[in-house]
Amino acid sequence: MSILQDKFGREHNYLRISITERCNLRCTYCMPAEGIELSPKSHIMSYEEIFDIAKEFVAHGVTKIRLTGGEPLVRKDAHVILEKLATLPVRLTLTTNGVLVDRFIDTFKKCGIKSLNVSLDSLDIEKNTKITRRNYFKRVYDNILLLLEEGFQVKVNCVLMKGFNDDEIIDFINLTQKLPLHIRFIEFMPFDGNRWNFDKLVSLKTILERVDAAFGQDEILKLEDAPNDTTKAYKIKGFKGDFAIISSVTNPFCDGCNRIRLTANGQLKNCLFSTAETDLLSVMRAGRSIVPIIEKTILAKRAVRNGMETLEDFKNMDSHSQNRSMIKIGG
Ligand code: GTP
Ligand code: 5AD
Ligand code: SF4
Repeated sequence: MSILQDKFGREHNYLRISITERCNLRCTYCMPAEGIELSPKSHIMSYEEIFDIAKEFVAHGVTKIRLTGGEPLVRKDAHVILEKLATLPVRLTLTTNGVLVDRFIDTFKKCGIKSLNVSLDSLDIEKNTKITRRNYFKRVYDNILLLLEEGFQVKVNCVLMKGFNDDEIIDFINLTQKLPLHIRFIEFMPFDGNRWNFDKLVSLKTILERVDAAFGQDEILKLEDAPNDTTKAYKIKGFKGDFAIISSVTNPFCDGCNRIRLTANGQLKNCLFSTAETDLLSVMRAGRSIVPIIEKTILAKRAVRNGMETLEDFKNMDSHSQNRSMIKIGG
């Protein structure tokens, strides 16, 4: 049996590697206002270590690697990491805030990257500045257009927060009329320091009701979702792009989970919500095989969201104080 298979038969062939805890934005849903304490530099994986770990995962059946952060492109050797990983037989991709994308177009092409996920939570400059605590809206928007012009598939990640940007659902969908974008509305999730509470959640149900009201049910097409997708995808008839909903809270997709996470300081996480981490990097630095650690971490995986099994678990909490801040997990 593959070491990537868990007790429930799920094959973890999608590795998400956070390559840095740093970011050039300060999104409110991702980190506290005061920032986070960074791991000492010596605890962060070098590009050689990232490559060696990735190689081991690929040898055991990983077929997709996503780089995340913080913001992956702020790391000084991001292009080296991309180029090294591009030598492996995997689908390589990344989730980025889009600020630095224009500097990497040639690298992305050289590395065979076909698709990128870019965060953009508001189409309004002021609101965007409020969410990200930085003023980069225009650069990010232009970079999304640039990626499309250069032939990349672009998924736009939009975290919805009630009373803040949920009035923009239809504006985002209208973007897909002329642009072949994939908009993904994400239910706001609780992480350390992000001041989450249940009332700020905009659920899958609410989003679909708003779309129905705006376009009419007959105009909305349900698209097929792949077995491991985080999304439930839809399209407005005749529009070039489409939209999807990532309902991690109200309609989790754990049944199809094929993801394993590696943090920038070399810890394996078997679930986004799991507070337990296994120290892969120390084992590797001690010269021992990391295979047993990978196997153990995947076998310890639960059937559903670790520690957050039911909707009630979310309703009963105000913040997810034991987990890391999202910036240290990478989504
Ligand atoms: P694709 O590979 O393009 O489907 O992207 P993705 O959805 O796997 O990754 P992305 O980094 O774009 O994440 C989008 C949103 O999905 C973020 O809010 C992530 O936190 C969330 N997400 C990704 N993987 C998981 C997961 O395993 N569980 C949960 N609950 N949320 C996830
Ligand atoms: N809830 C939901 N999604 C989040 N992301 C970051 N923080 C949260 C949160 N609290 C998403 C961002 C980014 C992806 C990696 O994770 O949209 O695109
Ligand atoms: Fe940076 Fe992404 Fe977190 Fe925003 S969500 S602060 S862009 S890591």
